[in-house]
Amino acid sequence: MSIRARGPRYVVQGSAQLRGSVRISGAKNAALAMMCAALLTDEDVVLTNVPEITDVESLGELLSSLGATVEHQGRGRLRINAAGVHTYEAPTELITENRASFQVLGPLLARHGFASSAPPGGDVIGQRPIDVHLSGFEAMGARVSREGERFVARAPGGPGSLRGARVFMDYPSVSGTQNVMMAAVLAREHSTVVNAATEPEVQELAHLLNAMGARIEGIGTQMLEIDGVTSLHGATARVMPDRIEAGTFAIAAAMTGGEVDIEDAPLPVMDGLLAKLRAAGAAITDGEGFLRIERTSDLRAVSFQALPYPGLATDLHAPMAALLTQANGVSIIHERVFDNRMLYVSELRKMGAEIVSTGSSAIVSGPTMLHGATVRALDVRAGAAVLLAALVAQGTTIIDEISHLDRGYEHLDEKLRALGAEIERT
Ligand code: UD1
Repeated sequence: MSIRARGPRYVVQGSAQLRGSVRISGAKNAALAMMCAALLTDEDVVLTNVPEITDVESLGELLSSLGATVEHQGRGRLRINAAGVHTYEAPTELITENRASFQVLGPLLARHGFASSAPPGGDVIGQRPIDVHLSGFEAMGARVSREGERFVARAPGGPGSLRGARVFMDYPSVSGTQNVMMAAVLAREHSTVVNAATEPEVQELAHLLNAMGARIEGIGTQMLEIDGVTSLHGATARVMPDRIEAGTFAIAAAMTGGEVDIEDAPLPVMDGLLAKLRAAGAAITDGEGFLRIERTSDLRAVSFQALPYPGLATDLHAPMAALLTQANGVSIIHERVFDNRMLYVSELRKMGAEIVSTGSSAIVSGPTMLHGATVRALDVRAGAAVLLAALVAQGTTIIDEISHLDRGYEHLDEKLRALGAEIERT
């Protein structure tokens, strides 16, 4: 046993072939942003289809620590009420738990005129700056300063005094767009966000905000037009299914040569992945919210780039790389979103993968017979990649540091077991 091992681990028997059906959970990145939106009103925001993952738990704790009520009302249903918010300073130990927690800043600043936070946590997948968030707030008149390790943002004239502005985003950052959008909905007059992220999770947040009384147009485009309002009201919304979880199961089905029905798959936002899976040799049948993935012939090498939406999602880069270790030929992968997405490479190599990375690119040669090993889930998606590899490897794989997987995948081992995988959490 590795002396480094701490916390739960997965023990996975290889040579699996996944068969059966799996239901997709609510989307992590939509749910987290939607939870932050509850800070914009005194009324209840009720979210359904919220995934049971540790990122949701830790953000819930953060909202509670600010004074909000966060109530679990049965499976997947969360009621948040921010009437009791009494502090606008996010505790450092909670903010560093995940990336999305920094999104409390925009709502607090817009509504209460003041917000302070340490830089956010999350996966170590690159530099992950926050300049886009902060310059958006500054464009709306906020003064942002660094006090020790914390960022402090003040609206020019106290609560409700942000001014609508034309905000240009240097990069179409997902959480940056969500943060700036949440500030702009309560700013005076009109804002235009230029070069906004178009990810489905950004769109989901915008729809929730409109249901709360905001006036956002251009949802899903790179130009958001936002008319500020003076207050928002409560709303109830169902979180969209997680396209990354659906994609991970689709890749698993193709990789193990099985046949899996994926229920509640958000098909209209999965083109990037499905095109590549088809090119790699998977047979895909789709209907409304339903996806069947099967593979009866050998996998073929495919090259791809991970891009902002609607390109193939960077969160599926590592799982796709795992699949390509089983494909005939040489695949080339270019990562265009993050500068350090390659943490999975060393772990897959421990299992016998022929994969090399240079900068933000990886070259995979296949097919290789993978073998069991002791590996680490170095971030949530790198963890998914080694888990997929473990399913097809010969022998037993032990995956350490699976707390990363718990952050983003709901009941992952249970779902895989239901599809026939031999996986134990120990
Ligand atoms: C979100 C998702 C994450 C996903 C990513 C890209 C959440 C909680 N996480 O992360 O799962 O992988 O989108 O789809 O929603 N950047 C800047 N300046 C900034 C902010 C970002 O240059 O102020 C750059 C980053 O360095 C990175 C790129 O933008 O290269 C993408 O980051 P961003 O879109 O912000 O990702 P997150 O919102 O952190």
